[in-house]
Parts: sequence; C-alpha cells; structure tokens
Amino acid sequence: MSNLLLTTKCIECSPRGFLESVGNIFAIFDAQTQDSGNISYGVEVEHARYCVSARKCSAPNRSARNGTGSTTEFTDRFFVKTAGNPDDPAPFLPHSARVALLRNGVQLAQSIQHAALPRLYHAIESPHGPLLVYDWVEGELLHARRAQRADAQSAYQRFRHLPVAQIGRALEQIFEVHWALAAKNWIAVDFYDGSLIYDFAQHELHLVDLDNYHQGPFVNSMGRMFGSSRFMAPEEFARGALIDQRTNVFTMGRTMALFLGDGTLARHAFRGDDALYAVMLRACRKEPVQRFSSMAEFYEEWRKARG
Ligand SMILES: Nc1ncnc2c1ncn2[C@@H]1O[C@H](COP(=O)(O)OP(=O)(O)O)[C@@H](O)[C@H]1O
Ligand SMILES: [Mg+2]
Repeated sequence: MSNLLLTTKCIECSPRGFLESVGNIFAIFDAQTQDSGNISYGVEVEHARYCVSARKCSAPNRSARNGTGSTTEFTDRFFVKTAGNPDDPAPFLPHSARVALLRNGVQLAQSIQHAALPRLYHAIESPHGPLLVYDWVEGELLHARRAQRADAQSAYQRFRHLPVAQIGRALEQIFEVHWALAAKNWIAVDFYDGSLIYDFAQHELHLVDLDNYHQGPFVNSMGRMFGSSRFMAPEEFARGALIDQRTNVFTMGRTMALFLGDGTLARHAFRGDDALYAVMLRACRKEPVQRFSSMAEFYEEWRKARG
C-alpha cells in the first residue's frame, strides 16, 4: 500500500473530501484565521495504512503512540495548502492569483533545501487548484495581533524574552535562509512574524508561507505593498521604487530590532552587544544605498558580529 497523499497526481473531488478519505484532518486554516482566501489543512495519516515496515518509510515527523497491548501506532503529519474555494468572492485576491502564488511557492521550494524550511513533498492537481503537501512542523506562530502583542503569554512575547543566545540561533536560521534565497535570486516579499513557527520545547524555528517571494528585483507597482509595516522598508510604501536585496536587508534589520530590541532602534532596549547593534542600525537605514549592499554582505557582517 502507498500513502495516497504522496502518490496521487490528480483528483476530481474537493480537496477536503479527498483529505478526509486518506487521513484525519486535525487542523484547518480557513477564513476564520486567514485573510488570504487560501485553505490549508493539518492531515494525519496512519502509518499502518500505507507502509508495511516502519524502517522502509522515510517521511519525517512521525509520532509514535502506544496503542493497546504491545502494538505501537505511527502517524505522519502533513500540512496541505490549497488556494481555497474558486467561487468565494470575499478574498482580496481572485482564485487564479492565489493559485499562481501557490505555484510560485512550489518554484521556491524546489530551488532550495534548508532545515528551517518545511519540505514540500508533492503537489496534487484538483478542480480547486493544487494541493501542496508539506511536512507539518511543530510549534507556535510567532505573530500576535496588535491587541495581543503586549501580552506576556503570547508566543511573540515568550520568544522575545528567551535568552539572547537562543534568539540569536533563531535569527541565524532566518538570515541563513534569506542569504541562500538571495543567492538563488529570490527577493523576500511579505516576510513577517506570521512566517515564523517556533517550537519552544525543541528550540526549533521554521519559516513558512514564502509564496509571495519574487524572482529578481522589481518595481513597486502597488504603493503600499503586502506585509506588516513593522518589517517593511520605506520603498515598500512607494510606488515606482525598486525592491531588491537591500529591501530585504532592511527587513532583516527590523527582525533584529523587534526580537532583540523593543521594535525601536534605541540602544538601551537592544539586548545584543555593540557590534550587533551596529549591524542592526546599518541594516535599518532609511536610504537603501546606506544599508549593506546585499544579503550576502549583511549575512557576513551579522556572522562576524556574532563572533
Ligand atoms: N508546514 C507547516 N506546518 C504546520 N503549520 C503550518 C505550516 N505552514 C503553515 N502553517 C500554519 O498554517 C497557517 C496558514 O499557512 P500559510 O502558509 O501562512 O497560509 P496563508 O497563505 O493562508 O497565509 C500559518 O499561519 C501557520 O500557523
Ligand atoms: Mg500566512
């Protein structure tokens, strides 16, 4: 037997109907939590349903549960992303544009492998567009809505209050991924704390939802672009401005300011040393020409400053 989630190429029914037939849906991300119009699912597939020997299976993220008697039951967890209902008029982007972004996410996933990026196993075509089958990653989304952002119990605040060394290791993952993506000509768009899932037990970070990233520099045609203003560079608000790696350098600098500081550039609020503080300041300069000239230069200086 094989895992239908990993072998099926095309379905005629709805994504949800298919997923219910191959496994157990344990999480749904739809209009209740997302404003993208996309609908995604956490799907758990019983190991015994598709694999004769545990040793032959290579899918990670397997959890073992002690069943009755001496048997042990395995499940594999997947994150399955779809563009949602084609007939739903509510989302800002039409279904065709959402499908195009998902396919862009496939291009990105196929161009890079990194431990902090959930693996994309497979795509299944359906009348609702593709179903992208990713590895499920454990942890909490670091984004908190404005009203909850100061709440000490939010994942955002609990992350910010970790020891500096642990935050440094997470930032290292974020910067290494963006350095590697820049080397493949990907420009980050709409990166923010809603793209970060942190596992507080294992101290592991993953980056998700990079579907808006763009191949090569481009001109801002929107005015205010998609994204969280806390992470966005001035040129992301200016129609006609160039969006390039220096824009991403700014976003990385803001990531330092938010996680190691209080979101401002104040020295007293910044928990890193002077060398790291200098890297953050230069990355966050208003004028792109005054920042590091590329993600590679930023990443090199970050690494030097970390020692
Ligand atoms: N690989 C994954 N494993 C577990 N949860 C995930 C994974 N990818 C995303 N998520 C969760 O699902 C939510 C929706 O996914 P996302 O890709 O951000 O979709 P959207 O395009 O709707 O914003 C995320 O906010 C996050 O909480
Ligand atoms: Mg998202």
